[in-house]
Amino acid sequence: VCGACTVRVDGVASRACLMLAVQADGRRVDTVEGLAGDDGPLSDLQAAFRRHHALQCGFCTAGILNSCADFLGRERDPSEAQVRDMLSGHLCRCTGYTGIVRAVLEVAAQRREQRQEERDDV
Ligand code: FES
Repeated sequence: VCGACTVRVDGVASRACLMLAVQADGRRVDTVEGLAGDDGPLSDLQAAFRRHHALQCGFCTAGILNSCADFLGRERDPSEAQVRDMLSGHLCRCTGYTGIVRAVLEVAAQRREQRQEERDDV
């Protein structure tokens, strides 16, 4: 129930500890390593976590990043309350969640700006 094992199964945040291996058969399973390219820079979300000191011991971080990646794929303009609600499935004993919330809201805003710039270029 801590959320630390959260992975993305076909893009959807899922707790690995509650899945049987057979349930993943034939499906795409992404761990946190899938957020950044091979030997590439951190993803925008990972970089924002670093900027906002959204992790300390890191025990919860992989699972939270996977939930945030799924969430930001669905929610383009989330409120702080929505971010906090999404995080309710994760226990973090270190950060107090404030930096995590700031990081997620910042990435959502950056992606909105990026989409707007792409539309303006067309
Ligand atoms: Fe330590 Fe979240 S950073 S439990």
